[in-house]
Amino acid sequence: MAIIIRKMHPSLGAEVIGVDLSKPIDPETSATIRQAFDDNIVLIVRDQTLDELHQLKAAEIFGKVAYRRRPVVGDGPGGDYDTPFMMVTNIIENGKPIGAFGDGEMWFHHDTSYYPEPHRATLLYAMKLTKTGGETRFSNMYAAYDNIPRALRDRLEGRRVLQMHDYKRRERLNVDTTDISKIRHNWQPLFITHPATGKKSLYVSRLMSAKIEGLSHEESEAALEQLFDISEDPSIVYEHKWVLGDMVIWDNWCSIHARNDFPREEPRLMRRLTIEGQAMQF
Ligand code: OGA
Ligand code: MN
Repeated sequence: MAIIIRKMHPSLGAEVIGVDLSKPIDPETSATIRQAFDDNIVLIVRDQTLDELHQLKAAEIFGKVAYRRRPVVGDGPGGDYDTPFMMVTNIIENGKPIGAFGDGEMWFHHDTSYYPEPHRATLLYAMKLTKTGGETRFSNMYAAYDNIPRALRDRLEGRRVLQMHDYKRRERLNVDTTDISKIRHNWQPLFITHPATGKKSLYVSRLMSAKIEGLSHEESEAALEQLFDISEDPSIVYEHKWVLGDMVIWDNWCSIHARNDFPREEPRLMRRLTIEGQAMQF
């Protein structure tokens, strides 16, 4: 069956209809999916029944799967081992979270923007969902770049932005007066050129972007606030309402995403993989 790409929102997001990711994907279909990915930024594949191996194979359509180290929990062989999988969940077993990101809202962010080589893409597979809430919102950062007023863009062109990993943060940290040596961080171009599409994209997020290089604290905060508002404009945001079996893949260089709150007492479970990236260029 030929695959169909159906747009979910004028700015970004499309369903890929007619693929079963638990079956081998031929090279032609892979190429069609990759093109749809570059064109639509976020892809949604519905009704999938995927074990870990299926998800790994699906991820390989988009590049090289990134591995991470995690300590063994439960009855594992002991010590650290490499795994590409991460569970995004609020589930706690024997007093220990079985995955990451727990409960509640998450502000807009790029995944791993604080790495020297930020990940290309993230694949999230819905395994348990709450009855309400927990939607994930995606924003088109090519469009955000295009929407920056000319004077502001000219003033910020060629500057870098400090990206930090601090998921607990719910207010902006003043990095000029705070010791950030224990928080993972990295300087990145504020405006990147997307390595695959060659298009310019705004590379900031409310959760992770702390400071613009070469500006005073006040100037940087004012400019960032303006950029956050532009990047979160509802006209360039697609909100994904999850259904069990959804596999969602997002381009992590030209989009940011946020999560809505959900009831704490209900379990939510997503299986996550990421695709290796490369250094961001101006
Ligand atoms: C992630 C993430 C959002 C969600 O896995 O990187 O931001 O809806 N997840 O759980
Ligand atoms: Mn994320």
